[in-house]
Amino acid sequence: MKFLVVGGGAREHALAAALARAEATIVVASANANPGLERLARASVRTDPTDGASVVAFARAQGVDGAVIGPEAPLAAGVADALRAAEIPTVGPSRDAARIETSKVFCRALLARHGIAASPKVATPTTVEEVDRTIAGFGGPFVVKPDGLTAGKGVWVEGADFSDPKEGAVYAKSLLLQGGRVLIEEKLEGEEFSQMAFVTDDGVYPMPAVQDFKRAREGNLGGNTGGMGSYSQRDHLLPFLPAADREAAIDLVHRTVAGLRAEGIPYRGILYGGFMLTARGPVLVEYNARFGDPEGINALTLYEEGNFAELLLGIATGRADPNLVRFRLRSTVVKYLVPPGYGDRPQPGGLLAIDEGAIEAAGVHVVYGSVEAAGPGTVRLGSSRGVALVGEASAIHEAGTRVEAALRFVRGEYYVRHDIGTKDDLARRVEHLRQLRAPGAKPSPLPLSVAPAAAPPSSAGTSEQLLD
Ligand code: AMP
Ligand code: GLY
Repeated sequence: MKFLVVGGGAREHALAAALARAEATIVVASANANPGLERLARASVRTDPTDGASVVAFARAQGVDGAVIGPEAPLAAGVADALRAAEIPTVGPSRDAARIETSKVFCRALLARHGIAASPKVATPTTVEEVDRTIAGFGGPFVVKPDGLTAGKGVWVEGADFSDPKEGAVYAKSLLLQGGRVLIEEKLEGEEFSQMAFVTDDGVYPMPAVQDFKRAREGNLGGNTGGMGSYSQRDHLLPFLPAADREAAIDLVHRTVAGLRAEGIPYRGILYGGFMLTARGPVLVEYNARFGDPEGINALTLYEEGNFAELLLGIATGRADPNLVRFRLRSTVVKYLVPPGYGDRPQPGGLLAIDEGAIEAAGVHVVYGSVEAAGPGTVRLGSSRGVALVGEASAIHEAGTRVEAALRFVRGEYYVRHDIGTKDDLARRVEHLRQLRAPGAKPSPLPLSVAPAAAPPSSAGTSEQLLD
């Protein structure tokens, strides 16, 4: 089977690697020459991946059986629509359906229209006066979000990106004055997790839950980034995420897809729910219309059984074989090596010498992102997330330790978060949720009507015992 991969980042390298394990032939349309993708691809074209006409022309010339779109920008530009119009089965929602990610206003309104109680208190002020009134009305910490795509970087959270509510108000007003729409949301307290699923006409097929580390620096300091790393647990839950809460999140995804369908909007692709597990259960932070980056790398690394190309073709044509949705029962940790200063003022251009053979021999995979080849075993860092190292093991912290051990085979200047997947970090997150959910804890100020989790938080459904 021959598949077109659209996009040139680490997520797309991981996608292509999963296709290659299924012995598919891969061709790539991307703006950059990703060394990992170049190695796997039978052919590739340097093009703007948001340019539907050129992507379609390449797909046609290559005679592909199907296409899969990695990043959000081509989805927002309607590249999935262009491929489908050319009768190329495509994994990736239409531009219309991708509004679930590209417009946070659309997303919240869709949930409201279908009575899906997954949102925190949210307002969409249209004047500067309304911004002040909204914030005064919330009477607690809040978050300011531009409506459109921000690559994870335009969202300002009180207590992290600003401390004085007045600063948040100034930011919200500046977004309005630039002509954009803005959302003000109540700040959710809890632990975030990503629940991705394959979605097609006949169902929703969940992947393992993953936790992403969005902040640039260790200790969750610094600005929001696309994600510095992520982990998943061998039972596909997370140390702080009981089965009942994951099921509640998956149920919200099901109902969201049903809501889209009821409005005549079919969805064939990946739907990624970014949830906050709060004292009262999972609450939706945002939807994305694609694999997470890095979270997709965790999931795709675990996808080894079955035929990935066949699964993708099934999703693209509306009917997936559930027997092909199988993920191995292992824990994974992904850590991104990024240019110094990333998240603030990245310094691109540095060289990394990577002994890939030694890293693979240590049981860790190398996934290439924003880098270019610079001679044998050497890559040059761009200004974004450069190289992801993926470790797997039985326990999360062991997978993290494997990645840390592999770092000795990388020479050059980079930044990496050493705190991802450590026992200490995992224990802190479990304790955070325990405190939030303890009997007698200050009741959450959330005005949610989100259904409470079906099981008590520290019942048999939890997986804290997997911490060791
Ligand atoms: P988004 O682009 O909506 O995913 O927002 C980026 C990041 O901002 C999220 O991953 C969260 O860490 C944070 N965030 C967004 N909305 C909220 C919220 N209502 N409460 C707390 N944190 C939030
Ligand atoms: N890691 C967050 C995202 O892919 O949006």
